[in-house]
Amino acid sequence: MDVIKAIRERRSIRKYKPTEVSDEKIDTILQAGRWAPSASNKQPWHFIVVRDHSIRSRLAEAHAYGRFMKESPVVIVVLGDPTKHPKYHLADPHNAVQNMLLAAYHQGLSTCWMGVRDTDIEPAFRQLLNIPEDFRVICAVSVGYGDQERTSTRLSLHEIVSWETFGNKNK
Ligand SMILES: Cc1cc2nc3c(=O)[nH]c(=O)nc-3n(C[C@H](O)[C@H](O)[C@H](O)COP(=O)(O)O)c2cc1C
Repeated sequence: MDVIKAIRERRSIRKYKPTEVSDEKIDTILQAGRWAPSASNKQPWHFIVVRDHSIRSRLAEAHAYGRFMKESPVVIVVLGDPTKHPKYHLADPHNAVQNMLLAAYHQGLSTCWMGVRDTDIEPAFRQLLNIPEDFRVICAVSVGYGDQERTSTRLSLHEIVSWETFGNKNK
């Protein structure tokens, strides 16, 4: 799939079919995460793939805006590792997440990014998944075959772009 098409058409999906996701497809998603750009190439990330229904149900209970983790056959929890990069352990995992969303979409899968970092959900995730104290819990990503169609909107380029200096709207 064309990368621009994937970027444009990917949507956050919050309803899933029970169909399982193959190991090959999960591997492709993880590989895409691993190849994200990384400051000084320190790769301060770690991914926990959760397929177990009872663990997903408990994650869903802990996350008021992620109840659908109970339904999506896979949840990938993304961690930041400050020991690998004290400054970019938060930014770099986000790069990996975007790659993973696109790799999933490319394979006919749907996803939704759920924020965890700096919320009161972070300790619950830490405890449920046995995550060491020195890692940060960045987010969770639901993965599966979507069971809904969604549209989205964005601000126009005119609203968010300046040319040469801030605020100059003339090209
Ligand atoms: C940092 C971040 C946190 C998000 N957290 C949630 C969340 O907790 N629950 C949820 O349903 N969607 C969450 N989303 C998805 C956004 O709501 C979604 O990307 C946005 O509404 C635009 O829709 P689209 O992705 O379909 O274009 C999050 C997205 C980002 C980038």
